[in-house]
Amino acid sequence: MGSVALMIEKMSKEKQMLRINVVTGAASGIGLATKQLLESRGESVIGVDIRDADVLVDLTSPPDRERMVEEVRTRSGGAIDAIIAVAGLAAPIPATAAVNYFGMVATLDGLRPLLAGSDSPRAVGVASFASIAPGDEALVAAFRAEDEPTALARATALAADPATGTLIYPSSKAAFAQWVRRSSIADTWAGAGIPLNAIAPGVVSTPMMSGVLSSQEGRDAVASSVPMPLNGFADASVPARLLAWLVSVENSHLCGQVLFVDGGSDASVRGDSVW
Ligand SMILES: NC(=O)c1ccc[n+]([C@@H]2O[C@H](COP(=O)([O-])OP(=O)(O)OC[C@H]3O[C@@H](n4cnc5c(N)ncnc54)[C@H](O)[C@@H]3O)[C@@H](O)[C@H]2O)c1
Repeated sequence: MGSVALMIEKMSKEKQMLRINVVTGAASGIGLATKQLLESRGESVIGVDIRDADVLVDLTSPPDRERMVEEVRTRSGGAIDAIIAVAGLAAPIPATAAVNYFGMVATLDGLRPLLAGSDSPRAVGVASFASIAPGDEALVAAFRAEDEPTALARATALAADPATGTLIYPSSKAAFAQWVRRSSIADTWAGAGIPLNAIAPGVVSTPMMSGVLSSQEGRDAVASSVPMPLNGFADASVPARLLAWLVSVENSHLCGQVLFVDGGSDASVRGDSVW
């Protein structure tokens, strides 16, 4: 490699190392693995979580979402390079609707102005393979309308029956993935030079899944609904590496994509009906 090329590569590495990332859900699982990976590469991370983080907030709470933005502004000096929205719940409860949709959107929209000073701003959020599972139309419509009171009322009604409570999670992830696709091409994101994307993990062995994965019966049930012919269940470092690339300087043109990092579940279930 010529000396100019070497110099450019060195400058690009140095630029990557100076980056300030905000990671929500940084206390556990995928968020923690992402924080650790970025830090191991010499980057800075401001961790956000309800516990064990730099910024302690409950992302189901609208005032806490605003406080998160203010605290990140103060800690970063008003300029960040990447937003990685990971925090989420899977339980069949209304809080899952609040954090998985409204918490994610508030994180990405709320912190977006702080990306303005970055020469390589990036953003990503975590959806799920479950986003393609059946959801609840009324709940998805309330998410799409950004109507949190109606969404929470609908989630409360769904949660009252175990047969419908399980619709909350896939509904929240589908609506979030759709929000990412819709928003990514807007003036505020693509028009401002910010790639916005989502990832859709299959089954990842984290504390979120530890209950169901602790028995052979649970593992078999999960494997039959989420087939992962490539390498089976993943550990948290797998989505972490993809998130880290999506917010890296290298990612200049991926926009509005929902990347299934799922060992082949999406290809197994949806086949060639989507591409
Ligand atoms: N584990 C999987 O198989 C899997 C698959 C697909 C998608 N996901 C998604 O990945 C993300 C991370 O999940 P994980 O598996 O690492 O789970 P996890 O439970 O290990 O971590 C989730 C983190 O989010 C935080 N969090 C939850 N509610 C919060 C709130 N109200 N305010 C602030 N922080 C809150 C938790 O404290 C925790 O640190 C979630 O959005 C989840 O839906 C996980």
